Amino acid sequence: MNRNDFLNIADYCEASRSRLPKGLFEFVHRGTEDDVALENNRRAYTSLKLLPRTLIDVSARQASLSLFGKPWAFPFAIAPTGAAGLMWYQGEIALARAAANAGVPFTVATGSLTSMEDVAEKAGGNLWFQLYMWPDKQASYGLVHRAENAGYEALVVTVDTAVNSNREYNVRNGFTVPFRFSRRNVIDVMKKPGWLFNVLARYMATTGMPKYENYPPDMRNSIVAKPMGKAMKKTDALTWRDLRELRKIWPRTLLIKGVLSPEDAVLAIESGVDGIIVSNHGGRMLDCSVAPLSALPAVVNAVNGQVPVLIDGHIRRGSDIAKALALGASAVLAGRPTLYGLATSGQPGAEHVLALLHEELLRVMGLLGRPNLSALDKSCLASASNSILSS
Ligand SMILES: Cc1cc2nc3c(=O)[nH]c(=O)nc-3n(C[C@H](O)[C@H](O)[C@H](O)COP(=O)(O)O)c2cc1C
Repeated sequence: MNRNDFLNIADYCEASRSRLPKGLFEFVHRGTEDDVALENNRRAYTSLKLLPRTLIDVSARQASLSLFGKPWAFPFAIAPTGAAGLMWYQGEIALARAAANAGVPFTVATGSLTSMEDVAEKAGGNLWFQLYMWPDKQASYGLVHRAENAGYEALVVTVDTAVNSNREYNVRNGFTVPFRFSRRNVIDVMKKPGWLFNVLARYMATTGMPKYENYPPDMRNSIVAKPMGKAMKKTDALTWRDLRELRKIWPRTLLIKGVLSPEDAVLAIESGVDGIIVSNHGGRMLDCSVAPLSALPAVVNAVNGQVPVLIDGHIRRGSDIAKALALGASAVLAGRPTLYGLATSGQPGAEHVLALLHEELLRVMGLLGRPNLSALDKSCLASASNSILSS
């Protein structure tokens, strides 16, 4: 790979489109149903305009911070994605190493294809574990204890997946986990021999067909191949009481992921969380859900500084990070950008994606006349009609 061929996240997106089987690329790239939430997530960023100040010394600009008691090189964390291990052989380890080298957190998903212990042992860094609660609560608590023993810094409880979403494209593409050759997807895969040999064949030659390695062995083996996104055995009976129970057993940073309403943000704080991630799952669950960026100001207002508020959903440029921070977020997460980098060239690709976002943020801060993160506030924003938002 020549890094100079990749100038931005969109370049990595297009490269991964040409490398991955169509069913897998669509699983990563698309949202759900009609992709309304996905497109709206992007539009929320592009419709928000910046208002630069000038003749300010920005020569010492820097974006590092301390959050949840840890140093971050810039206000960005890699969001949990169950598919990292299908982008690249042992992709979760590659992503975690990229994050550690870039000085940002990496979140291992419950549905990871590498076990959380393997990621911790082989990559290290500031690791978070994302939890989907199963109907069997004791089995879920088992995951929480494993994350604690493996040294994970934060538990990220995802709460926007009460039922499976309706990703019709996965059904059409016949793409499943565990991967299963079907008449429908075999041609798709044969068209991408690079992926077949470098990813799938390497698993087959080592650990066998990729599986959910965090699952207890009996559950892991009982998973029947289903269209991707439908194979998880998540509970549809999760309540605030469960979050309070998790608070009792998890001693470190507890984050809730998938909040959009200010009322839920208040309930989350009452349940003892240390931070809130405003998210609509990258537009992959409830189509037509409000864009996280649009929901952010009301959540920030309701939280009133009690805990940090983070956000994800279509961060693709440093300017997107600046906009989210200007509206009150302490940091952002993103899922797809590092998956695109990973699918293109493994750890170096993911690392380059992180470097691009970091550089872009610093450039935007310079052009905005805001040399440090604390200067990124509402005064940086103008509305689409260029009227200045009240501060
Ligand atoms: C392929 C893929 C798999 C994902 N898997 C999970 C998951 O297992 N758990 C979770 O909480 N979120 C999951 N997400 C959502 C991400 O954590 C994050 O909210 C989303 O990707 C943010 O949007 P972005 O991709 O536009 O940055 C997944 C997202 C993608 C794209």
